[in-house]
Formats: sequence, C-alpha cells, structure tokens
Amino acid sequence: MVSIAVLNGPNLNLLGQREPEIYGATTLPDIEAMCRDTAHDLGLKLEFSQSNSEGALVDMIQSAAQHHAGLILNAAAYTHTSVALRDAVSAVSLPVIELHLSNVHAREEFRHRSWIAPVCVGVICGFGPQGYPLAIRAMAGHLGLAG
Ligand code: DQA
Repeated sequence: MVSIAVLNGPNLNLLGQREPEIYGATTLPDIEAMCRDTAHDLGLKLEFSQSNSEGALVDMIQSAAQHHAGLILNAAAYTHTSVALRDAVSAVSLPVIELHLSNVHAREEFRHRSWIAPVCVGVICGFGPQGYPLAIRAMAGHLGLAG
C-alpha cells in the first residue's frame, strides 16, 4: 500500500483555540480524521504528525523519504524562516506539497515569502482544513494514483 505523510509545524497543535478568527474551530485531531477518511477513500496509508521543533521537523522530513511516497507539509511559521527545512526538502527525493490553512498572501508581508515553496511540487493555501484532503488528492494525482 502506498504511504503518504502529513507533517505539521509549530503551534498547529493549538488549532481550535489558536486565533480562531484566522484558523477556525477545527482541531488538529479533527483534521487528522479528515485526512484518514481521504486516504482510506484513495487506498493510501497515512502517517500524520506534528512538532514544534525545527530540528525534529528536519528529522521527520529525512525519515519520510525512507518510508513514504509523498509528503504534505504545513511548516507553519518555519515556512517563512527556515533554510534548514528547505534544505531538508531539497536533500530528499520525495515530492512535497506545501500547505497552509490561511491564505498567507492575504496576510502580513512576512508571510508572503516561503523558503520551501520553490522546492515543492506545488502549494495549497487559503482553503482552511479542506486544504488537507485537497493536498492528499493532489499528491495522489501527482503520484499517478488518482482515478
Ligand atoms: C500557517 C500560516 C503561517 O504563516 C503561520 O505561521 C502558521 C499557520 C497556516 O496554516 O495558515 O502557523 O502555516
């Protein structure tokens, strides 16, 4: 069975209580359940994880390349700051889709730049929690698995 990883960065563990006017009321476990439903529909195995630590995220990207066919990455604030995460994505031969709940381009200017997007297959942002199933379907399509 083909396996896909969904990796979430800092503060996304607080979804549901964190700035609900921006991120909504859906919690990360709710999003994980949506992802599991979508993966099940597509016949994919799914690993879903979150870390607040940049180094742990680097380790998880490196390890994803060993175990998964594709990675959906919401690197949260590290998107806009982390050369280390970009280098990790560049270092592995694994297709990565960058994902954000909010439309980062409609927010503060410092969120308009992503260090990671140029080394990704594509970017999905602004669709709230629905972006996660969208990204999984996009990855399945990219891998030639979607019907
Ligand atoms: C985010 C957008 C980032 O700019 C922000 O730092 C986050 C969440 C999103 O999903 O909308 O923590 O990645």
